[in-house]
Amino acid sequence: MSKQQIAVVTGGTGGIGTAICQLLSDQGYRTIALSSSERKAETWQEDQLKAGYNIEARPLNVSDFGDCERLILDVEEAIGPISVLVNAAGITRDTPLKRMTADQWQTVINVNLNGTFNMCRTALPFMLEREYGRIINISSINGEKGQFGQVNYATSKAGIYGLTMSLAQEVARKGITVNAISPGYIATDMVMAVDEAIRDKIIAQIPVGRLGEPKEIARIVDFLASPDAGFITGSNISANGGQHMHP
Ligand code: CAA
Repeated sequence: MSKQQIAVVTGGTGGIGTAICQLLSDQGYRTIALSSSERKAETWQEDQLKAGYNIEARPLNVSDFGDCERLILDVEEAIGPISVLVNAAGITRDTPLKRMTADQWQTVINVNLNGTFNMCRTALPFMLEREYGRIINISSINGEKGQFGQVNYATSKAGIYGLTMSLAQEVARKGITVNAISPGYIATDMVMAVDEAIRDKIIAQIPVGRLGEPKEIARIVDFLASPDAGFITGSNISANGGQHMHP
């Protein structure tokens, strides 16, 4: 890379997000990791430093449009032009619909789907002005196929495809690509929170016979973020160990 590119990663301090931040940092991006809590951002940044990564972490409530607007403006003005936006902030509130509260529905939609809109909407004007950008939205296998107990989560992740494909068409002539990645079950705290017996049944359905590794998702992000991935837009790359196949 000639000039150092700036990458902003929501959910940057999470399981998959951390691997994304580390790989982008290794690849020479100045990476800004966003976290839902100030304390998490601080401890994460310290941990990364100990591990040899100088990555700035900041708190951000992705479900608050004003917060996103301020964050993007601040990065653009104080650090520089954002060329890569990765939307990896995601939460679960798993429970069957018959017991799902309105709050469990709204919280998940607000973070996973509205958060993705908020970041795309606030970062896009800057990318349009420069006629360059890479937007990568982390969806999920469960957005592709649905999942018992995840009406809220699967809906939020399926919604990400509509956003990705529509926005990709709107900005294709402006040097900006918009793609989704759909990880299957990856060895993160989110998946480890699933009851062990249920998780074992899920793993038994994965043809490669194991959970995925966060770095296996980060590799796809790095690829889609590269300038020469410019012909790939509006697409979805699934990485799920063969658990769900589609052409
Ligand atoms: N398909 C059909 N039936 C199922 C089922 C399934 N996948 N899972 C459970 N059931 C059945 C059970 O056999 C049981 O049946 P009986 O009542 O006849 O015995 C019944 O549903 C259990 O229903 P309950 O209402 O009692 O459910 P619960 O409260 O015990 O558990 C749950 C509900 C918490 C959602 C639990 O099923 C669960 O944790 N499921 C896994 C959800 C999941 O995969 N989450 C992924 C988190 S990680 C992630 O999201 C990352 C990513 O992107 C992949």
